[in-house]
Amino acid sequence: MSQEREPIAVIGTGYVGLVTAAGFAELGNEVWCVDIDAEKIAGLNAGRVPIYEPGLEASLAANRERLHFSTELGPALEHARLLFVAVGTPPTYSGDADLSAVHAVVDAMPASDRHALVMKSTVPVGTGASIKRAFAQRDKDGFRYVSCPEFLKEGTALADFRNPDRVVVGDDGDWAGDAVVDLYAPLGAPLVRTDIASAEMVKLASNAFLATKISFINEIANVCEETGADVLEVARGMGLDARIGTAFLRPGVGYGGSCFPKDVSALKQLAGNSGYHFQLLTAVIEVNELQKRRVIQKLQKHLGSLVGKTVALLGLAFKPDTDDMREASSLVLAARLQADGATVRAYDPIAEDEARTLMPGVEFADAALDALAGADAVVLVTEWPEFRELDWAAAAERMPGRLVVDGRNALDREAIAAAGFAYEGIGRS
Ligand SMILES: NC(=O)c1ccc[n+]([C@@H]2O[C@H](COP(=O)([O-])OP(=O)(O)OC[C@H]3O[C@@H](n4cnc5c(N)ncnc54)[C@H](O)[C@@H]3O)[C@@H](O)[C@H]2O)c1
Repeated sequence: MSQEREPIAVIGTGYVGLVTAAGFAELGNEVWCVDIDAEKIAGLNAGRVPIYEPGLEASLAANRERLHFSTELGPALEHARLLFVAVGTPPTYSGDADLSAVHAVVDAMPASDRHALVMKSTVPVGTGASIKRAFAQRDKDGFRYVSCPEFLKEGTALADFRNPDRVVVGDDGDWAGDAVVDLYAPLGAPLVRTDIASAEMVKLASNAFLATKISFINEIANVCEETGADVLEVARGMGLDARIGTAFLRPGVGYGGSCFPKDVSALKQLAGNSGYHFQLLTAVIEVNELQKRRVIQKLQKHLGSLVGKTVALLGLAFKPDTDDMREASSLVLAARLQADGATVRAYDPIAEDEARTLMPGVEFADAALDALAGADAVVLVTEWPEFRELDWAAAAERMPGRLVVDGRNALDREAIAAAGFAYEGIGRS
């Protein structure tokens, strides 16, 4: 199989780059991975995977002979004609995407009629056009460009690679677009082949729509709390409508992560830069920020002032099954609690190392029940499966307080009540 599959390069070995590399190596491609982080590359060469993503370590190990890791671009350019770009595009202070890593990659490309950049990084609409202009100005217009946005979800990223809802390929109708289509063909996914700008917009619009759905159900939850309805019943009743669907109708403590916050803000900013005020996204962002803080009001409702109180946070990663702490709601929550004079204790099964550097002053525990010791209240922030099994009678023995705030509506509220706790969910009276 490997003789028939063409070698590819992946530039940037983070969540997207490593999953793309592992996925194509599984399909039989030789994959030449490049990263500027020498420590990361040394670790990968020694078989150490720098991130937590279910199944990734096993997949990389099983396909080790087809994977090459280097800080040098040379071998990648020599062996591959398709160079997948998966470098970070974090937000700047203005809300625009920071494209400096993308530009560094573009600048490092030689003049070539044989190569193509395949953009997996999420970039503003118009980025492909500006990269093509930059190539042309430097007499590198033989270099081809393809937009191939990535839709993987951290936590199920490999499964998403193997079985994508769709593959989007935006290109100029040349050999490079055809080659990317061929690469993905074995996955049998629906293909959207389109122009570059439209492909770029598919990614931003998809994330903005999902974030809108989350903020929408969070607002419905808040109204449910005022009116006596139960948002879980409401979401079930809404979701059965095929036009609406059940996905992303789960209220909680707001969305976080490395994608939604920055992509929503980048689309809003992109619209603003072109003279259009994207009112809906402005509200989506504001609702999300307020939602992260509503937990504080729930705590105050039961505890009064938070000065001198101890609050335990269960789960810190922005969602379960990842160690990613980027824009996690737990960061805002811990900082707000500390600012209000509370002591914060915390536990996360995977993200603790990352969290320690981001959450100064927080006391970390090695197990969920240990985090509850001495706590006046506990807040479920990230719904790791192990928290569903928590022994609430044992929790009651460790906690002087009797309050559980279930920030994801994931806990067994009967068991919690039976152990003598007051229960506060999101959008449930
Ligand atoms: N993480 C996700 O769930 C996800 C999903 C879809 C799309 N995306 C998009 O994919 C892109 C990458 O995201 P990520 O989460 O994998 O980022 P990441 O921060 O995990 O990884 C980026 C990697 O790029 C490397 N890098 C930076 N500059 C480089 C350069 N000039 N040459 C080579 N390597 C370089 C970094 O060292 C790092 O290892 C972003 O644009 C993101 O928005 C991410």
